[in-house]
Parts: sequence; structure tokens; C-alpha cells
Amino acid sequence: MSFNNRKFSMNRSSGVPRESTSNRRFSTGQPSQSENDSRIHRQFRNAHEGHRSHAGLDPTRASTGVVWCTERAIEQGFGEEPEKWANLGQGAPEVEDGIEGSFKRPTEIDITNAGREYGPTAGIKPLRAAVANLYNAHHRVGKTSQYSWENVCIVPGGRAGLIRIAAVLNNAYLGFFIPDYTAYNEMLSLFKNFAAIPSPLSESDGYHINPDKIAEEIARGTSVILTSNPRNPTGKVVKNPELAEIQDICRDRATLVMDEFYCGYNYTSECDGTVISAAENVDDVDEDDVLIIDGLTKRFRLPGWRIAWIVGPKEFIKAIGSCGSYLDGGAAVPFQEAAVEMLEPNKVKVEMKALQTHFKEKRDYVIGRLREMGFKIKTVPDSTFYIWLDLEGLPFAISDGLNFFQACLEEKVIVVPGIFFDLNPSKRRDLFDSPCHHFVRFSYGPKLETLKMGLDGIERVIKKFKAGAHLD
Ligand SMILES: Cc1ncc(COP(=O)(O)O)c(C=O)c1O
Repeated sequence: MSFNNRKFSMNRSSGVPRESTSNRRFSTGQPSQSENDSRIHRQFRNAHEGHRSHAGLDPTRASTGVVWCTERAIEQGFGEEPEKWANLGQGAPEVEDGIEGSFKRPTEIDITNAGREYGPTAGIKPLRAAVANLYNAHHRVGKTSQYSWENVCIVPGGRAGLIRIAAVLNNAYLGFFIPDYTAYNEMLSLFKNFAAIPSPLSESDGYHINPDKIAEEIARGTSVILTSNPRNPTGKVVKNPELAEIQDICRDRATLVMDEFYCGYNYTSECDGTVISAAENVDDVDEDDVLIIDGLTKRFRLPGWRIAWIVGPKEFIKAIGSCGSYLDGGAAVPFQEAAVEMLEPNKVKVEMKALQTHFKEKRDYVIGRLREMGFKIKTVPDSTFYIWLDLEGLPFAISDGLNFFQACLEEKVIVVPGIFFDLNPSKRRDLFDSPCHHFVRFSYGPKLETLKMGLDGIERVIKKFKAGAHLD
């Protein structure tokens, strides 16, 4: 058999997405006029039609929703003058020193000889021990079963940690909830060793994972459950007694993967520095199948350090530590060494207090201004630095996430359309049927002056469209 005369009809060189010629849709409804007439909608659809410009490359697998948004902003000039923009899209906290009561971040670190060598893929022992000590001091005082260094694996950032967990799962049903963190989408579609099953949370229930929902999942054979708590993008946290009830249901039935990256941003206890963690309700640290993932990224405001950890039963941690040898090679040793002293429990408590006070102030400011502009915010988010903003009351032209996003770009503001949080790993649903279609995620992670700039931009958008403006 020869392929010599074979003609390829696809455009292999230009890299320009082709206009879709097919009308094939999975959706039961037809796109609305405002979707058909909208440039950003057409651009989004074409980018997700499965265009192939290089043999062997599927570019749709390469980017998450947040990256797609940044690329659109760059097309509008964000790359040249970022200081004139309010980036409320990326999920990053402000990193500067100066928050009252917060410790000063190191501006240089020592690099020992050990720091020049390959490090252990499960992380260096002093940092593993420091993480175990932090969880015991903050969540397990008076309990017989305590975490040790062998219950902790250090990983190069949260996403690497999530991928490591996914890599060691067996042939399981993995249940996850919609909406949730966008990177789960790509992560869950990478691995074939388990089947990912989405479970939509309802708006009327405040996008709340609750014991009944978890029991339902387990009843249908789900043996791994993945959730962020506090939740990205809705800004809600599940705490005791509900959290303990969820853990009781899962005990001996399912592995619970608790993504606690936002646990420091907890506004439910008067900003006293308390952090909500599933570690509190674990019975036996080596028997209870609870994997907790967190790191320096969000609550220590050091996303560039790429230091994160997974806490769980020794046997699980051993596998997660070892698979780093073929996945990512482990976290940078000098940064691990520098992280040890940051995790002293009293210091962390003071830090969490400062963080909560500062971010709650920003939350209240942002909510106040959004309400003045006419946004309906039924429940104020009690954690994270996100607002899941409902657009339904806005002028029709900007009442869905993509169109609102485009209108904001024109005012140099970046937000993330809600559909990116509607995890759809096997692409079985049409995103235009998404319950997240009329939301955007607003991040109040950036500094107050950036937030003010962004809110001014959003105010201009609303005024313009109330006066009858149209999108192209
Ligand atoms: C819920 C959640 N988990 C994990 C992460 C990953 O963080 P990292 O930047 O350390 O990979 C993020 C980052 O946005 C997140 O929102």
C-alpha cells in the first residue's frame, strides 16, 4: 500500500482557523441571534471545531479557558501596555509586600549543594515534615492519629499535583462537579485509567456540594471524588458539620480528593486566621482515603515558586511521590528549602489573619460597586477571591459570558466567561447549552487600584449598552 498519491485537502500551513462549513451541533436548540451575530462567539466556535494545521497536533488540548481569554486580550493590545489593563481574569493573588500583618517575602534565597542536585521526587524531608506539622497543629490537636512526613508529598505546583494524583488512580469512576476549576477539564481528559463523570450543581442550591449529592455519586459506583473546597469559581466553602458528613459518607467507599488551594481565603470566622480543611475530620491518617492538595500558590501568595503539597495516607503518598520520576521530576530544591520556615504554625496563623482581613475588605468593596451598577448578587461569597457574576439582568447584548467578555476587552478589562468552568472533558455537550453561559468569573485577587480600574471599565460597559451600544 502506498500513500504517495494521497492528497491532503486540509490547510496544513497557514495556521488560520477555517470557518466551519458544517452545521453539525450537539445542541438541541439553535444559537440565538446575539450568538450568531457576535464576533467573539464565532471565533470561539471556530477555535473549538477541531481544526488541524499540523499532523499529530491537536491545538485545542494546549490551552485552558484562562489562556484563551489572555490571548484575546493580547489581540486587543494587552501585551503592549499591560499596566493600562485590569486583568481580573487570571486567578492570581496580589504578590507585593505591604499587606498589613503579612510577612515579607524573601527577595533572595540560598542555594546549597543539595539544591544543585536532583531532589527526591516526593520532596525534601524537612519540608514534608513542616507540612505535616502545620496540619497537625492547625487541624489535629488532641487526635491520636497524626500526620508524619511520610503522609506528605511535595509537588511542583497544584496542577502537577493534580496530574500526579490522576496518574496513580485505578480503573475508577471519578466524579466531579460543575462548575469547577478549569484545569480539571484538561487533566481529566488526559488520562485513560479512569472515567470522569460530571455532576452539575444547581444554581438554586448556590452551587453547593452537599452530602446528598455525594451519596448519589457513590450509589452510582463512583469511587473517586474530586472537588475544590473552597470552590473555584463560585467562592463558596463547605464546612463542618456538612463537610464531616460528606467525609463520613466517603469513608471506606470512595477516595476524596480535596483541592484546598483557597482554604486560606476563609471569611466565615471573623477573619481570625482559621482555615477550613478536611484534615480536621480524618479519623486515621493512613486509612481514611482523603487526599488534600494545597501549596504556596494562593494562600502564601507565591504562585511563581511552584511549591505545593499533597497530604494523605502513606501508601497513596508513596505512589504519588514515585510517579514524579516520570511525570515532572519534582519541585525545585532551593525553593523547597526556603519554604520550610514559612510553614511554622503560629506564623501561618498570623499570616492567614492578615490575608483574610485584607481580601475581605477587597471583596466588600467590589460587591458594593457591582451592586451599585445593578448586578444581582444574591449570596455574598464566603471564601476565595472570586465572584461568580450573574449577567442575566444586563442589557441583552451583554447578558452572556462571551459577549460581556468582549465588551469588557474594549474597556481594557479581562474577566473569564463562565462556560470555561463548565467542565466538559470528553466534549460530549455543546457549550452553548451550558448553565454557565450567563456568568463570568471576576477575580478580586489583584491590588485594590487594579480592581478600581476594572470596575470603572465595567461601569462604562454597562452605561454604553444601556444607551443602546452593539457588539460587532
Ligand atoms: C482550585 C485550584 N486548584 C489548584 C490550582 C493550581 O495552582 P498552581 O498554580 O499551583 O498549579 C488552582 C489555580 O488557579 C486552582 O484554582
